[in-house]
Amino acid sequence: MATKFKSLLQKLKTTFRSGSSRDTQGAEYLEQIAAKEQKLIPFQTLAQATNNFHPNHKLGEGGFGPVYKGKLKDGRVIAVKKLSHHSKQGRREFMSEAKLLGGVQHRNVVALLGYCVHGSEKLLVYEYVSNESLDKLLFKSSRRGELDWKRRYDIIAGIARGLQYLHVDSHNLIIHRDIKASNILLDDNWVPKIADFGMARLFPDDQTYVNTRVAGTNGYMAPEYLMQGRLSAKVDVFSFGVLVLELISGQRNSSFGTYFQAENLIDWAYKLYKKGRSLEIMDPTLASSAVPDQVAMCIQIGLLCTQGDPKLRPTMPRVVLLLSKRPGTLEEPTRPRILGPRHTKSHTKTAFSSDVGTSGVSYSSALTTNTVSATEIDSRASSVSRGHDTRGKRPVEG
Ligand SMILES: Nc1ncnc2c1ncn2[C@@H]1O[C@H](COP(=O)(O)OP(=O)(O)OP(=O)(O)O)[C@@H](O)[C@H]1O
Ligand SMILES: [Mg+2]
Repeated sequence: MATKFKSLLQKLKTTFRSGSSRDTQGAEYLEQIAAKEQKLIPFQTLAQATNNFHPNHKLGEGGFGPVYKGKLKDGRVIAVKKLSHHSKQGRREFMSEAKLLGGVQHRNVVALLGYCVHGSEKLLVYEYVSNESLDKLLFKSSRRGELDWKRRYDIIAGIARGLQYLHVDSHNLIIHRDIKASNILLDDNWVPKIADFGMARLFPDDQTYVNTRVAGTNGYMAPEYLMQGRLSAKVDVFSFGVLVLELISGQRNSSFGTYFQAENLIDWAYKLYKKGRSLEIMDPTLASSAVPDQVAMCIQIGLLCTQGDPKLRPTMPRVVLLLSKRPGTLEEPTRPRILGPRHTKSHTKTAFSSDVGTSGVSYSSALTTNTVSATEIDSRASSVSRGHDTRGKRPVEG
């Protein structure tokens, strides 16, 4: 069956190489195949499931458009993401990427049930994950207590396994590019599921992704991606590290105050770690449930993952391995704000050149809001588009 499908796709590829009427025919053919596999969902079905995308069904809205809760006739509860954000990617590419992402199946990754193209609209249909996103729990003091240490540890380990799957075990390397608390959903057993994977594939030409976050509202972006547009799996490792430190501290990296005499959460954690007091970053609500050795190990893993030089960060399989062992001796993380000279050199002409010192780059200053002009954003955008594959297919050596 799989071979048959492959040969059909091959035929389609040949068809698509020429004229536009053939292209339309080909697209229709592809739609038929996809529909057969029940991944292509008719728009009408989604409109019915969400009561015509009624505001009461809206779960939230992120950078790519609103998300609605819905129910299919067969009883399945779904989350429909209406992609309002336009990409140059055509209908055909969108469908083939969505199809590929539909094949992604892992306990710690939200299942993409199907997709829909309706006129200029593109929609993605996911399984509905009942316990909301991690940010809604972790950063609301009234609910944070529901996350005891065991739950948080299991969440950390689950996200690590999900990322390992996306990076290594799935058939295609999928760099998420947007690991953050709102993209981690929890099911009714608190099993974490990574949402919004594959946006780098669906929006390969999307520079807005970097631009909208360049002013620092995000706090999860690796310095080499933020400043040079270098996308590799290590970008996800960095964001994962930030998330680990957020889970332990209950603090958002992006809105970290100066109260702790540190530039950001990572810097604060590192300073305390160097003084042998890393456990002080721990969320006080964890006091009764925490296993100190495990917490200390996770802090160290978080710091290893957020090192400035991507080469020094562990891979996700290594993180999974470390988490599966009893706390033991780990290597020393390097100071998080300092990047190696290679980065400094290539960075001197970019938007954040004022942050470049002789010994390294302070990316925490680059993460300060309202410091970037439109021209600077443009120059960032072109540096991203020129040199790097943002589709997550060809990793830049990291
Ligand atoms: N599959 C799902 N099941 C349940 N809730 C979901 C699902 N997908 C998204 N949501 C909810 O919808 C909200 C909006 O999601 P969306 O991905 O648009 O925003 P975001 O994650 O904050 O930003 P971004 O666009 O950067 O991913 C999320 O915070 C989450 O609570
Ligand atoms: Mg999201």
